Amino acid sequence: MSVITQPTDLLRQQDPQMADVLAGEARRQAGTLQLIAAENFTSPAVLTALGSALANKYAEGYPGARHHGGCEYADLAERIAVERARALFGVDHANVQPHSGSSAVLAAYAALLRPGDTVLAMGLPYGGHLTHGSPANFSGRWFEFVGYGVDAETGLIDYEQVHELARRHRPKAIVCGSICYPRHPEYGVFRQIADEVGAFLIADAAHPIGLVAGGAAPSPVPYADVICATTHKVLRGPRGGMVLCGAEFAERVDRAVFPFTQGGAQMHTIAAKAVAFGEAAGPAFTTYAHRVVANARALAEELEADGFLVTTGGTDTHLISVDPAPLGLDGPTARGLLAAAGIVLDTCALPYGEQRGLRLGTAAVTTQGMGGAEMRRIGALFVNALHGEAAKTRTEVEELTREFPPYGY
Ligand SMILES: Cc1ncc(COP(=O)(O)O)c(C=O)c1O
Repeated sequence: MSVITQPTDLLRQQDPQMADVLAGEARRQAGTLQLIAAENFTSPAVLTALGSALANKYAEGYPGARHHGGCEYADLAERIAVERARALFGVDHANVQPHSGSSAVLAAYAALLRPGDTVLAMGLPYGGHLTHGSPANFSGRWFEFVGYGVDAETGLIDYEQVHELARRHRPKAIVCGSICYPRHPEYGVFRQIADEVGAFLIADAAHPIGLVAGGAAPSPVPYADVICATTHKVLRGPRGGMVLCGAEFAERVDRAVFPFTQGGAQMHTIAAKAVAFGEAAGPAFTTYAHRVVANARALAEELEADGFLVTTGGTDTHLISVDPAPLGLDGPTARGLLAAAGIVLDTCALPYGEQRGLRLGTAAVTTQGMGGAEMRRIGALFVNALHGEAAKTRTEVEELTREFPPYGY
């Protein structure tokens, strides 16, 4: 338990400089409001697995077929993680080795595509991830991406446009998934469009996968050929990725992860993923996942009442995207004012125009035990911070976070 709150005495003796850094980060996390939609507080059990003996183990390959000796416990850990993921998501096959969400997307592309293939995905100006065709990323260099958008008025995915672009460009794959879309993708509609043009459907469920695990969001599993996800967002596991698919794609996916895009698996992280999947299978996680959404809805309503423009008019997920323009601010300026008051969040693309808005998520604060009353308090803190009352708001943020310490102590 001391792993996160206080670096151990041993580390402090050996490397006081780094012990200070770790203690500072633990204080920062506990003493400010974590509203980054991609972050959460993992359990002490997950942190224990991350700091376990498996951190020392090399295990290239898959259970029962490793390139290194001494893998009996590594194999057990990976088999447990795979079985738990399969049961949690009701899927034939799970590959739990991707080092990150981006590695999982890379593996999905490697499994299904050839360099030069056309891929239809949400355009980056509307909330597509870097791996959905950014020219700065492997995806944009190796594939021909076509971007779909959202309706400028409603902020909702324009399925007619997706359909029209699919018919025009005949992509090899369609990707559904975003970094800031606060509504559920219509997986059935994406499937129909993909079938009509003979494309694979890849769901990049990095954000909603934790809600799917807790039964608080629809699952892409019945619709997508391959699903890539992160394990560290709402799902509350260690930083990492995974790929889920039906039996027909299992071999292609496994070969795409190792040896095509990765070497040795990170066995300590895989053990921690297994711990997180075990936690996510319990009733407490279901309650948590539904509370995450209820909190997001409550906070979105609060921010709307405070004058923010809430894109899509609300949220179905953990994620809220707002435009502070009616308050006379742009996203980056608002983020700076909030940061000065101890409120940590990101800017994000907005459905229209060049200006950036703010992206918030309620997973971390829900893990801390906050509920509807606290969402109203957070709404008030936003208003005060944006009126330039940094010091006073900072004190109130500290009071709130003291009431809800992330690790309960
Ligand atoms: C939709 C989507 N895909 C992929 C990723 C990449 O995950 P990572 O940062 O672990 O590489 C993210 C991360 O936020 C994401 O939101």
